[in-house]
Amino acid sequence: MRERTAEVAESGFRDHVLVCTNARDSEYAACAEAHGDEVLDAVTAWLKERGVFWSAVHVAETSCLGLCSADGTAVAIHPRGRWYSDVVPGDVPDLLSGAFGADATNLGSQAGLS
Ligand code: FES
Repeated sequence: MRERTAEVAESGFRDHVLVCTNARDSEYAACAEAHGDEVLDAVTAWLKERGVFWSAVHVAETSCLGLCSADGTAVAIHPRGRWYSDVVPGDVPDLLSGAFGADATNLGSQAGLS
């Protein structure tokens, strides 16, 4: 095991967006069938347009976040502890602007906490 906490902190990493793209072969809803890939693409594009993708803001495609819905994807932003469900691609600009500011300058673990 290798602890890399200081290295990550020094890299400028500030926030982590998790996007569920989980699929399941059952009667229960899963994000893969509820725009998961499209939401992931929209999150990535929004962050790239502002120059913070994988520099200040990391993005991870995840398995189930426990907020399953047939109406949209689950998204979490950490370490802020913000959770969303039913996210569709058209929601992404407002969601990320609300979290990070329109120009993605509201970054860091203390930003957005209240
Ligand atoms: S399948 Fe996405 S939150 Fe459960």
